[in-house]
Amino acid sequence: MSNLVVVGIQWGDEGKGKMTDYLGQKADVVVRYQGGNNAGHTITFGGNRYALQSIPSGIFNPHIKNVMANGMVINPKAALAELDGLRARGINDFQLYVSDRAAVIMPYHIALDGAYEQLKGGRQIGTTKKGIGPAYADKYSRVGIRMGDLLDADYFASRLRDALAQKNMELRMLGLEEMDFDTLYREGLAYGEAFRPYICDTSILLNEEVKAGRNILFEGAQGVMLCIENGTYPYVTSSSPTAASVPLGTGLAPRYIDRALGICKAYTTRVGAGPFPTELDGALADYIRERGHEYGTVTGRPRRVGYLDAVALRHAVRVSGINYLSIMLFDVLTGVETLKICNAYELDGKTIDYVPSTISSYERCRPIYVELPGWTEDITGVRSLDALPENAKAYLRKIEELTGTEIAVVSVGPDRTQTIVVKEIF
Ligand code: GDP
Ligand code: IMO
Ligand code: MG
Repeated sequence: MSNLVVVGIQWGDEGKGKMTDYLGQKADVVVRYQGGNNAGHTITFGGNRYALQSIPSGIFNPHIKNVMANGMVINPKAALAELDGLRARGINDFQLYVSDRAAVIMPYHIALDGAYEQLKGGRQIGTTKKGIGPAYADKYSRVGIRMGDLLDADYFASRLRDALAQKNMELRMLGLEEMDFDTLYREGLAYGEAFRPYICDTSILLNEEVKAGRNILFEGAQGVMLCIENGTYPYVTSSSPTAASVPLGTGLAPRYIDRALGICKAYTTRVGAGPFPTELDGALADYIRERGHEYGTVTGRPRRVGYLDAVALRHAVRVSGINYLSIMLFDVLTGVETLKICNAYELDGKTIDYVPSTISSYERCRPIYVELPGWTEDITGVRSLDALPENAKAYLRKIEELTGTEIAVVSVGPDRTQTIVVKEIF
């Protein structure tokens, strides 16, 4: 038995979908343990490209049990549309298990997400407007509705009535239209019926899988710098993608979590607002954005682009207990003459080597770089570490040195096959 947590260690979109699919070839179970359809995980194989939002990335393999665990927030309408989209492309033979304890994203959460963003004026977070924050807020203020509630008509009615009393007050305050109980009730029950074949106690299922010695892959969404606890608060999402979330978000004991693989782009991107010390603009940013197709999978927004930030990486490695790194989109850096990696910040005239906790300080941090020469060779066809150009190898060694973490995988293209395995870890 082996299990591994796949954790994004930057600001999301590091290539978690590609690596989950790649490692999934050896998995029996793939589990999403937090987040919702704010995620956009891209998987490319056999000439096809898929973008998953709330469905786990093991869905293409009929032998894999795909679990949407209790730590997730699920928009049932969107998840059904995703499944329909997959079926339309011939993906019919899959195993899906949805936690009865997972939180439901309701239509009022989506309306409130947009309205609260607007209220912030110039200080918007730039959320995906999928209702993620309001759905998690309701879960913690105990007015949330859970997937299992949708299967019990009377209980769902009482939960919805209580929630709607609060939510309609909020909507009214914000100048929005109130929502109708009957419509939401009817829709909720219909979604419950559609999900009935999949809904179960996924903690029981996962503990049985562990006892049976199965290989389990935990697929994090977002990235550590967007973590509600350890990220660039308040410019974060409303859940924690770190490996520490797995036990809580799945109902598996911490002792069953073996290792965490940090998924890391060879540079940095961020979509949405918030500090980004190594951000670039101008020709180099455009070059990387175009080569890496750096446009949001969920919202289509152009992603902000910057140099690799080893200070932020060390922070993410520490708070998430990362054992190995997977360096993604390495091919994108081909043709960049001089590569830079930030190894410290200058804050108010002092040099610091950590991520400050307050945003006002983080916004004042200026990057201090080490420089390395780039390479010009096309590396998309390379399948072994040795065959990489010397300067590319030196860049990888520098990442290992500055993060204190061994590289297990290097990805040189979006396709499943464009993967260099340095060390087998799963
Ligand atoms: P995720 O949210 O972490 O799963 O990442 P996204 O799917 O949002 O963004 C990663 C993007 O990079 C997708 O378009 C992938 O197809 C693509 N990708 C992944 N690995 C590589 C790689 O090694 N090279 C290139 N060129 N693209 C990659
Ligand atoms: P994957 O799993 C990149 C960002 C949003 C915004 C902030 C809060 O594909 O890596 P939210 O809608 O979660 O309340 O938005 O978090 N964000 C992501 N950025 N990749 C993601 O997911 C993201 N999920 C949320 O842009 O800045
Ligand atoms: Mg993404």
